[in-house]
Amino acid sequence: MTTIELRSDNAAGVAPEIIAAVAAANTGSVIAYGADPVTAQLEALVRSVFEHPAARVFPVTSGTAANALSLSSMCPPWGAVLCHDTAHILNSEAAATSMLGGGVLMRGVAGTDFRMHPDTLAAAFAATRWGDNHHSQPRVLSFTQPTDMGTIYSVAEIAALTAAARERGLRAHLDGARLANAIVALGCSPADVTWRAGVDVVSLGATKNGALSAEAIVCFDDAVADELVYRTKRAGHVTSKMRFQSAQLIAYLTDDLWLGLASVANQRMARLAAGLGDLGVGFVNRPDVNMLFAEVADEVATELERSGLLFYRIRPGVIRLVTSWQTTDDDVDRALASFAAALG
Ligand SMILES: Cc1ncc(COP(=O)(O)O)c(C=O)c1O
Repeated sequence: MTTIELRSDNAAGVAPEIIAAVAAANTGSVIAYGADPVTAQLEALVRSVFEHPAARVFPVTSGTAANALSLSSMCPPWGAVLCHDTAHILNSEAAATSMLGGGVLMRGVAGTDFRMHPDTLAAAFAATRWGDNHHSQPRVLSFTQPTDMGTIYSVAEIAALTAAARERGLRAHLDGARLANAIVALGCSPADVTWRAGVDVVSLGATKNGALSAEAIVCFDDAVADELVYRTKRAGHVTSKMRFQSAQLIAYLTDDLWLGLASVANQRMARLAAGLGDLGVGFVNRPDVNMLFAEVADEVATELERSGLLFYRIRPGVIRLVTSWQTTDDDVDRALASFAAALG
């Protein structure tokens, strides 16, 4: 039985351009721990791609590390990070931010479409006992773009949230594990959706979109970057052979490879979602990028599994389907055929 991979974009392989970049960097010797010319070239490229002459970049090996290191560098131990109720940092990182942040608390904020909204953020602020040392004080607003449930914030929505946060003295962090997918969906520039919209620090994902355990923290705030210099080392993320992570990230950002790969993933999902809609399948989310949470009876899910479709069961009656840069049109056609057969 041939399988169709729709569990996760993490299940996909490494893009050939990125493997080639690692091989190309594998000549001779260079100084270790990120003091190498490849890592310097990466920082120059990030500054150009994000149109920010002072951006600083810290390659790390996982999205959890990017988030926990960013947030712990932005928040005092007595502080709180506000994020949506569905945020990965709150639900799926085993409180890594609290550990690295010396007890930083994370507080969920409500909001339809899996996004925080100005009124739900205002409600969270209103519920805060500001200045009361019996309670953690909000110091960072973190949002996931695209959200953990595959919807996106518009640039204006991000700007409104970060402005409201800044009024209260909070910095803004963006979990961009799939940022390329959001940029493609919005048709905006990397700068527009980040620092121009008030974001101070970005966890820039690459692994889900074709890299080999390479992510980056992109920092637009010098004080936070100065913290990151030491915190990344203490957490074991100043890797000795950083040039190979940097080479991957250079390939990823060069000639819009990251956007091209994400565009394939988004397009495949758009086709899949359209086909499933035609078959009468209900959706939990609006699939703005490459993730779909579909309402599928458990018996139908079992039939789909028997047909070779790989996906995650999220809860009774709901499955998660994720496309990647590697998903083909043929995969989509075969997945739709499996659904048609399973639905009878
Ligand atoms: C939105 C989001 N942020 C962060 C992460 C963490 O990435 P990693 O698994 O590389 O630690 C994930 C992984 O699934 C994610 O979906």
